[in-house]
Amino acid sequence: MKIKSKLNQIIKSALDSANIETKEDITISDATKPEFGDYQFNGAMKLAKSLKRNPREIALDIIEHIDTTTLISKVEVAGAGFINISIDNGWLSKELTKIIDDSRVGVGIVEDKKRIVIDYSSPNMAKEMHVGHLRSTIIGDTVATLFEFLGHTVIRQNHIGDWGTQFGMLIAYLEELGEENKRQNLQNLEQFYRDAKVRFDESPEFADRAREYVVKIQQGDAHCLKLWREFIDISLGHCEEVYSKLGVKLRKEDVRAESFYNPMLPKVIDTLREKGLLVESNGAKCVFLDSDTPLIVQKSDGGYLYATTDLAGLEFRAKELKADRISYVVDVRQSEHFRQIFAIAKRADMVPSDVKLEHIAFGTMMDRSGKPFKTRDGGTVKLIELLDEAILRAKETIKDRDSYSNSEDLDRVAEVIGIGAIKYADLSINRESNYIFSWDKMLSFDGNTALYIQYAYARISSILRRYNRELNGNIAIGDELEHRLALMILKFEDTLLKASENGYPHIITSYLYDLVTLFMKFYENNPILKDNIDTETQISRLLLSKLTANTIKKGLEILGIEVVERI
Ligand code: ARG
Repeated sequence: MKIKSKLNQIIKSALDSANIETKEDITISDATKPEFGDYQFNGAMKLAKSLKRNPREIALDIIEHIDTTTLISKVEVAGAGFINISIDNGWLSKELTKIIDDSRVGVGIVEDKKRIVIDYSSPNMAKEMHVGHLRSTIIGDTVATLFEFLGHTVIRQNHIGDWGTQFGMLIAYLEELGEENKRQNLQNLEQFYRDAKVRFDESPEFADRAREYVVKIQQGDAHCLKLWREFIDISLGHCEEVYSKLGVKLRKEDVRAESFYNPMLPKVIDTLREKGLLVESNGAKCVFLDSDTPLIVQKSDGGYLYATTDLAGLEFRAKELKADRISYVVDVRQSEHFRQIFAIAKRADMVPSDVKLEHIAFGTMMDRSGKPFKTRDGGTVKLIELLDEAILRAKETIKDRDSYSNSEDLDRVAEVIGIGAIKYADLSINRESNYIFSWDKMLSFDGNTALYIQYAYARISSILRRYNRELNGNIAIGDELEHRLALMILKFEDTLLKASENGYPHIITSYLYDLVTLFMKFYENNPILKDNIDTETQISRLLLSKLTANTIKKGLEILGIEVVERI
């Protein structure tokens, strides 16, 4: 339910009837404490200056005109001129009853549907996928799912790095290995890359061939291209293993690699020249925009850069894919890069001015000592091994809890919990912060973790199983806890809308955490399956529990996390 926009509408009408003119954009916000009601409006304070009136008087004036016949039960002026708003229980129960069997738990489709291109994961093929790409994959997949769920058209783009001078070296090495050793050596890409580099450094003859192959791939030499494609396929295969274990929605069709844009690069330079944005500096072609640091788009030897490809990509996404919004889920260290290319693409009309361009940036994954996440010997952590370890640890955590009927059951639950833990831990902090990876924390039953939420879901499932009858009846809000739980469930849509504004998954995890915490309190204080509960109350509480479970399930689904019926 879009409660906030309904409330803002009511406030706006009240201001109109009170003949109070507003230029500022003033809206209600969630109450910070239960004693302030459910929502607060502090517009009177903001208006006081321009109206030259006492804020309390204005507030009193406004509440005279607030419609309290439907969703609002009570309005009150507090302090210097705040308006506290409480939501009506009758309205809450009516709205909740409507959505008991709704698979969208009351969340509507947005009116303003957009075409959104979202660039995420985007690993480099000359290296093993690393934790940075894990973050991009997890965050990107969630944001994409969220957009889609709200009704937008989503076009996923896996902008893999498959081009650059390193590939000359890699395919020259691949060729040298011969058929029988290829597969074996490509099992471990990181090692393969290191070995190729050793060859490159030790043999001038090999290094020459590597350089020659760079030129040959660029010229479309069939033999070199074949080797190159083979290498990319195997690299991508490694990534797909990770995607499938993670259960992310990226498909082969979503790959649109850097090399795809090669034919468009000369045109990028032409466009920039036509727009008068191109400057030559020491033979290199650059764009100077507002900042002092120029962006190089073509080197003096004619080679293009990462930024040139991204400019071509921006134009393609805006004009060919017809995007209204283009989102890049990439490490925060590339902020300056995106700031520059966004500004240049708009200035050069490569992207229409009304297209929203955004960098959905995220921080670095750290180990417990606060250093970038590495293996014990300092190498990069293999993602597939990290995921397997998560599943193994999840199994340890839960194996003695429930009498799993067979080991397959336990394996399945361990997978859901292990992968869930990895994803949730990543999604639950503000993505811009660096994030400290801790097994103990992410696999804990307490705190803001996947397991805490998944466990609540399993608990509710068990309550409903034990009741084991048809649930027919109404929701009647009996006390303050039920009131808060009911309202929380209905806030799901506002939460998702907020999270989608700028792509912040932690808004959803915080919500789920608050929802579950509230549910636990409700469950402690309001018994459900005890003998002395009258049927109507019992049904109402069961329905509230069921709706809580439905909301948890949908919320986790958007985060790409599954639920299980028993833990
Ligand atoms: N491959 C790049 C990297 O690993 C990320 C690419 C992000 N997407 C883009 N269009 N620049 O750093």
